[in-house]
Amino acid sequence: MTATSSHNDHSHPDNADNSGVPDSVAAWEERYAEADDAIWSGNPNEALVAVVSEMTPGRVLDVGCGEGADIVWMAENGWDATGIDLSTTAIDRALGAAESRGATAEFVVADVSTWEPEDPDRRGGFDLVTGSFLHTRLPDTREELLTRVAAHVAPGGALLLVSHATMPPWAAEHSEKFEHGMDHHHELVSPNGDFALLIGASPDRWEIELADTRTREATSPSGEPAELEDAILLARRV
Ligand SMILES: C[S@@+](CC[C@H](N)C(=O)[O-])C[C@H]1O[C@@H](n2cnc3c(N)ncnc32)[C@H](O)[C@@H]1O
Repeated sequence: MTATSSHNDHSHPDNADNSGVPDSVAAWEERYAEADDAIWSGNPNEALVAVVSEMTPGRVLDVGCGEGADIVWMAENGWDATGIDLSTTAIDRALGAAESRGATAEFVVADVSTWEPEDPDRRGGFDLVTGSFLHTRLPDTREELLTRVAAHVAPGGALLLVSHATMPPWAAEHSEKFEHGMDHHHELVSPNGDFALLIGASPDRWEIELADTRTREATSPSGEPAELEDAILLARRV
């Protein structure tokens, strides 16, 4: 079992056209790098586990995979797994998570806005593309982001987006603490809103398989219990 990582020459974050997401690479990298340990729980998202468990494994791409909890879980469950993230530190932690669990996965440090897989078969060739809490830093750029993400889905494949339907109660305090402006457009998402953007953004035809808002228990960074609402969209490219 192996985990590998690469920087795509054509889409390395340092070279990427980040016109839609200025300073995103530096801001995310700083956010991860200034923490000694993982900043996320290390557990796969509940809704993702529930939805993906019903699917036949194939090729999956996790966009904005962060420290890899979702993609490592999918690798462990039979998927041919690739995770992509802007942050080198996040990808290093994802690699470490995969290796420590004996999971096989490929990781790429790149901006999904410009990245293309090196293997031509994988271009527009993923059976499933997932994005958990992927968001843009500027207003009115989510449709553009969804266009890029959706372009990786193969005909007949699926796109699964899990996003914040309401902000975690600690988000504002956390953003002030880090002063990265990471909150400046951490927009709230509804699954139907995402579907409307997807339809508007993509030249392909899509069908909704699931559009739902689900509540889950979470723990705040200071250890307090909290309830979070996730917006879940599962759309099939037909
Ligand atoms: C809120 S975190 C979520 C991480 C992970 N999906 C999870 O649920 O724990 C969002 C992640 O998206 C990544 N990201 C944001 N914009 C991106 C882009 N354009 N291309 C690749 N990754 C991106 C960030 O670096 C960050 O790791």
